Amino acid sequence: MAEEAILGYLATSEEIPDSGQFASQHGFQHNDVVNVMKSLHGFRYIDAQDIKRESWVLTDEGKKYAADGSPEVQLFLAVPQEGSISKDELQKKLEPSVFKIGCSQAGKNKWVDMGKQVSRKVQHVEDKVKDLLIRIQKGEALGKDDINSLKARKLIVAQTWKGYSVKKGPNYAPTRKKVATDLTRENLQRGDWKELEFKEYNFNAKGPPAEAGHLHPLLKVKQQLKNIFLQLGFEEMPTNNFVESSFWNFDALFQPQQHPARDSHDTFFLEVPSTTRELPEEYVKLVKRVHESGGYGSRGYMYDWKREEANKNLLRTHTTAVSTRMLYALAKQPFTPKRYFSIDRVFRNESVDRTHLAEFHQIEGLVCDKGLTLGDLIGVLNDFFSRLGMSKLRFKPAYNPYTEPSMEIFSYHEGLKKWVEIGNSGMFRPEMLLPMGFPEDVRVIAWGLSLERPTMILYGVDNIRDLFGHKVDLSLMKRNPICRLGID
Ligand code: PHE
Repeated sequence: MAEEAILGYLATSEEIPDSGQFASQHGFQHNDVVNVMKSLHGFRYIDAQDIKRESWVLTDEGKKYAADGSPEVQLFLAVPQEGSISKDELQKKLEPSVFKIGCSQAGKNKWVDMGKQVSRKVQHVEDKVKDLLIRIQKGEALGKDDINSLKARKLIVAQTWKGYSVKKGPNYAPTRKKVATDLTRENLQRGDWKELEFKEYNFNAKGPPAEAGHLHPLLKVKQQLKNIFLQLGFEEMPTNNFVESSFWNFDALFQPQQHPARDSHDTFFLEVPSTTRELPEEYVKLVKRVHESGGYGSRGYMYDWKREEANKNLLRTHTTAVSTRMLYALAKQPFTPKRYFSIDRVFRNESVDRTHLAEFHQIEGLVCDKGLTLGDLIGVLNDFFSRLGMSKLRFKPAYNPYTEPSMEIFSYHEGLKKWVEIGNSGMFRPEMLLPMGFPEDVRVIAWGLSLERPTMILYGVDNIRDLFGHKVDLSLMKRNPICRLGID
C-alpha cells in the first residue's frame, strides 16, 4: 500500500523529493500517492511541499499521428514508387484532413512533385513527426526546435504536472494510528475509551451544499421593481384576474370597437364563458355615449356602439384594464390623489419567436392628481427609470386610443451603444376619465413596459424561451445571481 511505502521510506530517508518518481519506482498510480500524501499531511505525519513541472502531452490529432503516422508520410506512401498518380486518385485514398495537411507538408519537405499528377522525388522518407510524438508519449524530453514545430502544428499542448516533495512531519510515526471517530456504548462498557485516540473535529471541512428553493429571474426583478414603486409611494393594484371583459379591457379605455387590437388575431377571446355576467349599467351608458357621440368637448367615434362586443370575455391584453377598474372605483370617492402600480401577466395572440411569447408580464404605473402635465409625466418617468439604472431617456410621440399625448420611451443602452425602446406612456384622455365621474381638472399620467425586456438584458438572456415556458433549464435558476436593480 502507498501509505506504508511512504511512511516506511521516511523511516530511513530524510525526504521523498518527487512524488511522481516515487510512484513509478514503487509501482503506484501517482494519483493514489498524492491522495495518501494529502491525508498524511493533514494529520501532520508528513510535511508536503507542492512541486510543479511543465510537461507536454499529445492532442487528439497528435495521438492519431502517433498511431497512424504523420499525414505527410501517409501521403508519401500512397504515391507509387515508380510513375505517378493523379491528384484526384490520391485524394480518394486518404482522409480529407490527412490529404490536405499531407500535401502541404510533403510538398514543403520536397518529398513529392505536386501537380495534376503526383510523383515521388525521393526514394525513402523517415517519419520524424511520428517518432517525436511517440517519444513525448513516453515522457522523454525533446529539444526546443522539435517542441516548437509540434506545438505550431497543434500536435502537443503544455500541461502542468503537480506533485509533492515530502519530509517527516511533527506527528510522524512509521504506521498510522487508527483514530476513533465515534464514542460507542461498547467503548464505554469495555472501558477501552481510556486508551482510544479520537479524531479531532475538522472545522475546515465543507458541509454538504444546502438545498433550498430558488427564485426565477423574473421574480427577482419583479421584487426589485416592486420595492422601487413602494419607495416612490405607489400602491399595488389587485391584478388577480387574467380573464377580463372587452368592456374593461377596451371600451372603458375609449378604444373603438373596430380597433384592430380587438380582432381575434391579436386577442385571445374566451369560448366558455364567452361573455361577462355583469357590467355597471349606468357607467356603460356613459361609455356608449362617449364612443357614439362624444361629449366633454369630443366628437366621439360616431359609430353604433354594440353591447355584445363589450360583453365578450378575453384574456386581458394589458394591465391597463386593471388601472381602469381602479380609476373607476376611485372616481366614486371624494377625490384623493393616488399613485398605483402593478406587475402581472397579460396575453396577446402573437406569433412566437426569440423575443415574443403569447404572454408576458406588464409593469404599469399611474399617478392621478389635479393639474398634472406632460412635464410631470416626463419627470416621474425620469425618476422611475433612473432607479432602474436608466438615466438617459428620450421620448417619441406615439398613439394609444386611450392617451393623449402619448410617448414611447427610449433609453440609451450602454452595452448595445444605441437607443432601445423600453416602454409606452401617456396622459389618459378626458373621454376615458370624465365618464367615470372625475372632476374636470383631474389628470392621470401612466406608463407601461414589459418585465421580460429588462430581465433579459440584466441576465444576458437572448431567447425569451430560455427565460419563460417549458424549455427553461431549471438549473439556471439555481445559478442566477440576485437582481441588483435599485441596490447599487
Ligand atoms: N397599455 C399600454 C401597452 O399595452 C401601456 C400603457 C400604459 C400606455 C399606460 C400608456 C399608458 O403597451
